[in-house]
Amino acid sequence: PARPLVLGIETSCDETGVGLVRGGELLADALASSVDEHARYGGVVPEIAARAHLEAMVPTIELALDRAGLHPRDVDAVAVTSGPGLAGALLVGVAAAKAYALALGVPLHGVHHLAAHVAVDTLEHGPLPRPAVALLVSGGHSSLLLVPDLAAEPVESLGATVDDAAGEAYDKVARLLGMPFPGGPPIDAAAREGSPHIPFPRAKAGDGTFDFSFSGLKTAVARWVEARRRAGEPVPVADVAASFQEAVADVLTAKAVAACRAHGVDTLVVGGGVAANSRLRALAALRCEAAGITLRIPRPGLCTDNGAMVAALGSLRVEAGVEPSPLDLPASSTLAL
Ligand code: KG4
Ligand code: ZN
Repeated sequence: PARPLVLGIETSCDETGVGLVRGGELLADALASSVDEHARYGGVVPEIAARAHLEAMVPTIELALDRAGLHPRDVDAVAVTSGPGLAGALLVGVAAAKAYALALGVPLHGVHHLAAHVAVDTLEHGPLPRPAVALLVSGGHSSLLLVPDLAAEPVESLGATVDDAAGEAYDKVARLLGMPFPGGPPIDAAAREGSPHIPFPRAKAGDGTFDFSFSGLKTAVARWVEARRRAGEPVPVADVAASFQEAVADVLTAKAVAACRAHGVDTLVVGGGVAANSRLRALAALRCEAAGITLRIPRPGLCTDNGAMVAALGSLRVEAGVEPSPLDLPASSTLAL
């Protein structure tokens, strides 16, 4: 018999994502994004995101089914991000998932956004050795997780940012350098032309925790740039970008490798939008190789928020026989791991 077809819905931030997964295979992944509507505000505006999800939800589901050449009645289960994320944005996805599950008479699985970011890697690299450590870095989160059996057990938080997320720091530094939102790609591009010689701080490095802090780094960059401007000197944008990027990649990879060592883990998964960063990928590869750790990073399109990740985790759950969620599943902006 064919393995169950799982429809996954993601709406926790500004991406309306719908994925279709059957037995570890990604059949379709459709995405609508409101990122352009947020650009002029320099960050995601919750009301705009929620409204955009509402408009994009049904067309994106139809697009995913179309691309896979499938019909709604082929769907065997519906998975949805039930949190954490923006409350109004989550509500749209959860309401849509409930409606589809109810109308089709199939089970509903609410999944945790961070666990889904980890699960998506199985679509590219196969089953995840357990336990694994995951480094998730995006505009909304920066976390180190200990990942047991993804289908059956909750992931455990080893540490997280105490202030800004890594992607948030990228966005804020880009803004002060006059670059567009989201700031990761333009900083990444500028850094290629620069040298990382400015000694920006590595907060919490070597403090024995697996927590991060990026707000001091952002302030240090702002002060450095400000001092240059006040002195009437040109700002070496490429060098600032490269130095900032080096500081972020340095602490993220050092702590990720330390977390693997501390827990005797030999597999590191990196995910989230910042996982697209070229320096983070290169430094992670270097340090994992030196430490004998297998590094797994999904392709950039699967690192950012998408529906495939939700379908991937839903699929693992369904095939493991995990009990579905009740139809009154709440959307929780602060959902715990
Ligand atoms: O996972 P994501 O698409 O959405 C959430 O925030 O959940 O991540 C978006 C974040 C943004 O802050 C963006 O600036 C950052 O990922 N980003 C990058 C790069 N591409 C995207 N940061 C650094 N380097 C990149 N190449
Ligand atoms: Zn995310």
